[in-house]
Amino acid sequence: MKLTLPTLLGLLTASALAQPVDIESLLQQMTTEEKLGQLMQIGGDHQGFSDKDGMEMVRASQVGSTLGVRGAATVNRIQKVAVTETRLKIPILFAFDVIHGYRTIFPVPLGEAASFDLKGMEETAAAASREAYAHGVKWTFAPMVDIARDPRWGRVVEGAGEDPYYGSLVARARVKGFQRSGKVVACAKHWVAYGAAEAGRDYNTADMSERTLREVYFPPFKAAVDAKVGTFMSSFNEIGGVPASANRFTLTDVLRGEWKWDGVVVSDFTSVEELIKHGIAGTPAEACEAALNAGVDIEMVSRTYLKNGARLIKDGKLSQATLDESVRRVLRLKKRLGLFEDPYVPEGTQAANFLIPEHRQLARVSAARSCVLLKNDKNLLPYSKNVKSVAIIGPLGDSQQDMMGSWNGDGQKKDVTTLLAGVRARLPGARVTFVKGCPVHGVVTDFKTAVAAAKAADVVLLAVGEDADMSGEAASRTSIDLPGSQLALIQAIHATGKPYTVVLMNGRPLALGWVADKSPAILETWFAGTEAGNGIADVLFGDVNPSGKLPITFPRNLGQVPIYYNSKNTGRPWSGKKNEKYASRYLDVLNSPQYVFGYGLSYTRFAISAPRLSAATMDASSPLTVSVEVKNVGNRAGAEVVQLYIQDPVAGVTRPVRELRGIERVELAPGETRTVNFTLSRKDLLYWGPKGGWVADPGEVLVYVGNSSAATGKASFRYVP
Ligand code: BGC
Repeated sequence: MKLTLPTLLGLLTASALAQPVDIESLLQQMTTEEKLGQLMQIGGDHQGFSDKDGMEMVRASQVGSTLGVRGAATVNRIQKVAVTETRLKIPILFAFDVIHGYRTIFPVPLGEAASFDLKGMEETAAAASREAYAHGVKWTFAPMVDIARDPRWGRVVEGAGEDPYYGSLVARARVKGFQRSGKVVACAKHWVAYGAAEAGRDYNTADMSERTLREVYFPPFKAAVDAKVGTFMSSFNEIGGVPASANRFTLTDVLRGEWKWDGVVVSDFTSVEELIKHGIAGTPAEACEAALNAGVDIEMVSRTYLKNGARLIKDGKLSQATLDESVRRVLRLKKRLGLFEDPYVPEGTQAANFLIPEHRQLARVSAARSCVLLKNDKNLLPYSKNVKSVAIIGPLGDSQQDMMGSWNGDGQKKDVTTLLAGVRARLPGARVTFVKGCPVHGVVTDFKTAVAAAKAADVVLLAVGEDADMSGEAASRTSIDLPGSQLALIQAIHATGKPYTVVLMNGRPLALGWVADKSPAILETWFAGTEAGNGIADVLFGDVNPSGKLPITFPRNLGQVPIYYNSKNTGRPWSGKKNEKYASRYLDVLNSPQYVFGYGLSYTRFAISAPRLSAATMDASSPLTVSVEVKNVGNRAGAEVVQLYIQDPVAGVTRPVRELRGIERVELAPGETRTVNFTLSRKDLLYWGPKGGWVADPGEVLVYVGNSSAATGKASFRYVP
């Protein structure tokens, strides 16, 4: 540790406060204004605050936490004012959006979720957290654990996809990773149902039954609570007429009452003030009253608490006890993070943390494992490393910025390896050319140079998709087709008769249509981060055998949306017969998606046996084991993601046709067989019953095991409570 002035001051403060801070006595000493200050979060950047009055506010004890202020020296400079110049010397907590990396950028969360590598996700979160801490960031606004069933919604890119069970496993892994050091706190967001925005338009209304809320949207948040997440963020949307940032049912009854969680809820960016536009508050004072009373502890950016809190207490519209409870939560979090003992961060530790080889390696492995092989006719992939020439064609083939996706922390494009750079590094002896062909957007009709490059090369790679700004916040689309002239570009190359691989780069499911039908090979690579090019080249040239699976359904076209694997059967399920009229179906397209949840190919093949059960019945206290043999029957080592689904065919309320209840990623050498055991217990059968409350019905339960949600291996047991 470098002994700078702030570090020394930190040590002095630590020794002066040999006694751990007593939250209750601190609270007793605080004025109402100082309390409201703890609930205020203001914005900034590397330089300091974005608001001119930021530093004055710190001196006046009006800032409890910040958003975006970072850089160890900047953070220490501000912290010094808080802990030496204010009456009660309460340290500030510095927050930032560290979503999929800080300086080393890992694949976008949806992409990383495709790896089904939970350990890997925990490690990348831990690495992001280490780098962030080196810049003074002790609170990250991640993981985003919203369930997303609508690819129009740009924020699908930030989460783990459509499934509540898998989303819960990912939430747990990411929370554990971010919080591993004990010095950084994570934030489960956005509480709640933000992903259910009508028509996929960001910030839009959500409306649903309490059952759907509890069974689909709550579980990843509950998993985060169980993994001891320190904070939650209340979302922008309304749910059935009540905005999430003023929703007492979700914020207090569920979080505090049912889940007994004692962490901190921060609003989303100005979402408290936005209660006025939602139309449930007429004034900032009413917005403050609604949010604080519902259970939003910290207000991000807007200042309704700071300006109105004291007045509301005087008028009896906000109780001292409610205010105290929110402040208590904030102080307790600061205490748990050790901020009172050591409010500063060591300076000069960037070099030891940023982009270190270990983090780059993690990023590369994660980029490769995130790739999903969607199609591979005639085993076009992997390519031989002895090829003489490669043509990389397409607008995303050499775009460093786009590889970082949306929310890229302090990532810098100069650090990023593109597909072009990755392939060049991989094949030093080959001639690797690059032709952009067309931009992501806009109409181009002349593909002559691209076609000539394709004709002249042994290997043709088409790097197409979306640019990074097309997904993420406020980036919804009404079309999920390949934008611009990219399809025409692919078709022009196709017309040459030369085999080629479509290397997709995008932040949401796309409707691939013609490409899915005609292109010989398709590799989905999402936005793969700092090591994108190296990781993707590892897959294309066979050093890594792809093992990613889709964490979200790829529709055939947008008209099928919302489409997700765990749907209901309806009273008139379609048999698949062509002329069946009064069935739940479309006239113009099949019900099935282009690619189902859990789908992804490998360069080898795996045989998965029919599931065997350890018993024919299960009761409330004894779990059951489901076993399958998985064999690598091809001639390359590879990994398979074995998936277990259940169905409860007769229950008190209708149940989904399938529900994921187990995943296991197994690596197998050629010819190797492994037994995979899953445990099922009563908790896997629970659903929100007809009268409310979690129940499991007696009766038959079907079990499917395979390598996608279309798994055909089947067994059944009876649940006898
Ligand atoms: C986003 C959050 C983010 C916050 C702070 C909001 O607009 O919805 O996800 O954490 O800004 O940057």
